[in-house]
Amino acid sequence: MSAFSRRTGKQLKESRFPRSLFFTCLLSLLLASGLHTGIIVLMNEMKLNEVIQSIIPVVYWTAAAVGLTIFIRYKIQQTYDLPTKQLAQAMDMVANGDFSVYVPVLHTADKADYMDEMIQDFNRMVEELGSIETLKTDFFSNVSHEIKTPLAVIQNSAEMLKIQGHTPQQQQEYVDTIIQASKRLSGLITDILKINRLEKQTISPEVCPYNICSQLGECALQFESSWEEKEIDFIADMEDQATINADPNLMELVWNNLLSNAFKFTPNGGTITLSQVSNESDVTVSISDSGCGMEAETVRHIFDKFYQGDGSHATKGNGLGLAIVKRVLELMDFPITVVSHPNKGTTFTLRIPLFKPDQNSATER
Ligand SMILES: Nc1ncnc2c1ncn2[C@@H]1O[C@H](COP(=O)(O)OP(=O)(O)OP(=O)(O)O)[C@@H](O)[C@H]1O
Ligand SMILES: [Mg+2]
Repeated sequence: MSAFSRRTGKQLKESRFPRSLFFTCLLSLLLASGLHTGIIVLMNEMKLNEVIQSIIPVVYWTAAAVGLTIFIRYKIQQTYDLPTKQLAQAMDMVANGDFSVYVPVLHTADKADYMDEMIQDFNRMVEELGSIETLKTDFFSNVSHEIKTPLAVIQNSAEMLKIQGHTPQQQQEYVDTIIQASKRLSGLITDILKINRLEKQTISPEVCPYNICSQLGECALQFESSWEEKEIDFIADMEDQATINADPNLMELVWNNLLSNAFKFTPNGGTITLSQVSNESDVTVSISDSGCGMEAETVRHIFDKFYQGDGSHATKGNGLGLAIVKRVLELMDFPITVVSHPNKGTTFTLRIPLFKPDQNSATER
């Protein structure tokens, strides 16, 4: 049975014991028996006595057997013992929480065998474990930081309220600050719970066919006060009807987060365009803004949890919106692309397959 590398697709060497080793052993034995015959002939010619004639072959074959055994033992050590010991040590280090371990492979890619494949799999596994561990620690420190900030604001304002002598207007400001900080705290906890449920897949998408155009319209209307307040030119360019097969509640999270970002990162008097078009197979939705835009380095991280690229907006939100969007789209298997230019604006584009009536028998919402 021939084995192939999953990584390179190349054929792997089937056995760690090469055929040449078999021939080396066979040849050594043939040579040794040839020598044995020679020794017998020599001993006969020298007319050695019978005892010596029987001892010499025994000593000779003992030496030959010891030599061959040492050679084979050396080969076994090199082939199995050393790499297995290395792997065992590495596993022990990983079990003790050290994820910096790296076991070097034994051969170059063209001579790789299953042991190299196993070592590479092990290295990849450790790398993955290490990044999960980092994510976990980062997550906890981010959560603690994000919780501490509004808590400190609440504590400060409450202490100020305790002090006598503030005007009713000042008191009102402190109360408003407390309300805002507690709203932020509650929003943060809701988002953390949401992302946790999405990641642990306790939310499984409840897919049904529905009209995406009316959903987009409803979501956009929720931002009416924002576009009026910021005098933003909001352009909605949509069809009347396009049916997709998706979880409407989860997709609502996506539109709300993308639209909320567009409104948050677009200055007063800017333009936001929500456009939706469909062809025979897909619906394409794009949300464009003429806002602050992002550098390429920022774009690389926007889907990371708690990442906030623009420091000036760090007080608004927690950097979880796009992480939620990404997780939902992963669950639904819909691709998203981002194009952004600093000081020019950003466009998020989503492609969603159109619902085909024979796709399932569910009724339209
Ligand atoms: N339309 C946009 N224009 C410019 N920057 C954006 C845009 N959308 C996202 N970003 C950048 O990506 C970062 C992450 O976005 P995300 O929605 O995850 O977090 P947030 O909006 O800061 O907070 P939250 O969504 O939790 O309220 C933002 O902080 C911002 O730097
Ligand atoms: Mg956001």
